[in-house]
Amino acid sequence: MPDSVTDFDPTLIAFVCNWCTYTAADLAGTARLAYPQNVRLIRVMCTGMVDPQFVLKAFLEGADGVLISGCHPGDCHYINGNYKARRRVKLLRELLTHFSIAPQRLRLTWIGASDGIQFAEVMQRLVNDLKALGPQGVASEHASWRPQNRRLQRDAIGSGSEVIGRKP
Ligand code: FES
Repeated sequence: MPDSVTDFDPTLIAFVCNWCTYTAADLAGTARLAYPQNVRLIRVMCTGMVDPQFVLKAFLEGADGVLISGCHPGDCHYINGNYKARRRVKLLRELLTHFSIAPQRLRLTWIGASDGIQFAEVMQRLVNDLKALGPQGVASEHASWRPQNRRLQRDAIGSGSEVIGRKP
């Protein structure tokens, strides 16, 4: 357990849409904008394909926060995937309370392809918020569930998404 909030290094799993937020992340990298290295990006083709199971598994695997980020309303390349994601996040937040996970650990944002600066700012803000919240303890309580949750990345990759960076 960290001694203070500043010692705590949260892990943020970010499911990002290929067409918007992933491109913004790429732009932030190209522009050498600094953002926390705690962020693990998982590229998906659309936020609408983020299965709620992926979010729950990420938390049970030890993520301190999960972000789903994609195209602005009206800009989804698959017409309404981001609206589906928005509805799912609303339901998932309610579900998280039953796992004793603070609902504010799950975030949804819209970051367009040209918003590299916004991407870096949002990541910094989310990591700061997670530091303030502290570690989520559910993963350690359910450590025995972890082996089966190793399938998170495999499931995500098998469904056409791509894991960027270190393993969560
Ligand atoms: S294509 Fe980006 S959210 Fe649907």
